[in-house]
Amino acid sequence: MNTKLMVALLAALLVAAASAVAASDRVAAQPELAITTLGFGSCARQDRPQPIWDSINAARCDAFVLLGDNIYADTADPAVFRAKYALLAGMPGFARLRQTTPLFATWDDHDYGVNDGGAGFPGAQAAQEEFCEFFQVPADSPLRATPGVYRCVTLGPASRRVQIILLDTRMFRSPLRKDPANPKVIIGNTDPGATMLGEEQWAWLERRLREPAAIRVLASSIQFVATEHGSEKWSNFPAERARLLDLLRRTQAKGLVVISGDRHLAELAMLPPEDGAPYPIYDVTTSGLNQPVEKESEHKALNPPKPQPNRYRLHERPYTGSNFGLLRVRWDGPSPSIRIEVCGLDGSVVLFRDIPLAELSPEPVPGRRGRNAGPPWR
Ligand SMILES: [Fe+2]
Repeated sequence: MNTKLMVALLAALLVAAASAVAASDRVAAQPELAITTLGFGSCARQDRPQPIWDSINAARCDAFVLLGDNIYADTADPAVFRAKYALLAGMPGFARLRQTTPLFATWDDHDYGVNDGGAGFPGAQAAQEEFCEFFQVPADSPLRATPGVYRCVTLGPASRRVQIILLDTRMFRSPLRKDPANPKVIIGNTDPGATMLGEEQWAWLERRLREPAAIRVLASSIQFVATEHGSEKWSNFPAERARLLDLLRRTQAKGLVVISGDRHLAELAMLPPEDGAPYPIYDVTTSGLNQPVEKESEHKALNPPKPQPNRYRLHERPYTGSNFGLLRVRWDGPSPSIRIEVCGLDGSVVLFRDIPLAELSPEPVPGRRGRNAGPPWR
């Protein structure tokens, strides 16, 4: 073989290898999209009115993250997925948001197709195809070619880079373990090999966490920090929860905040370093967009009768009216900070927390802990 041919072959192999990496890496960058206000929300029943989109539109977000249960499909039938996505598309407020604001989405159980679903759901492929259709995923995207909807988008210029890491907590997840005394209660699955993300997604996540970013928004459909309630959460797979904390420690990935949904309530929680976190890990749960536990009585929403336990909650009670989240970044000045807000149906702030970015580092600056000005009832 002559030298020219060898060089050409080598070049072709390198191109093929590079595109294979790109295909498996599920990454996109939009440096022109600078983020100062990121909106997010979950749990939107397509068969009920969704007036909250008006307040979300009024917040003029730079981008919006849909955290799952974006529709209640509960089917394996592509036609049913399509019909229910069409109802969401027809919501006037959502349609307006879609026209004006970049949307990034993952799914949870109901838009995956089955309540509390995990790996092995026969409708998973149909669900993924319909998800990709609805969110207008390009025809050549790896999201269409390989299982799972996980992806990462990197927004803004290098000095103000925001990574949005959208996890898939459904497609690869091992079976849940139920309490034998009460099958409604999910308990920890400690089987060796039990997984939340699956090995491929874990390897992908590690690559993402090794990339430079000032802020990393980890979008997980289910709660990461909470440990006590009997519904779905990362601590149903204790080794997987510990693995993520360890991964943050190993990669020294700074600036991470978890956003989650699913629970039909809103709460701000923080896992402190003394409980295994490399730095304070905040978990902002916002749910649902029109699917609250309580009906729309502000008094009830602020004072739910039986608040579920969560030792890491930063305020007394969860908020149980319709809600959405905002992450506002203050880039200017010597020490950038994040303000996390949970907003009610009319857009008013019901929970908030200010977090200096310097706090979200394996070596937190002493005396720089976030101020909790707290909810109105404190
Ligand atoms: Fe859910």
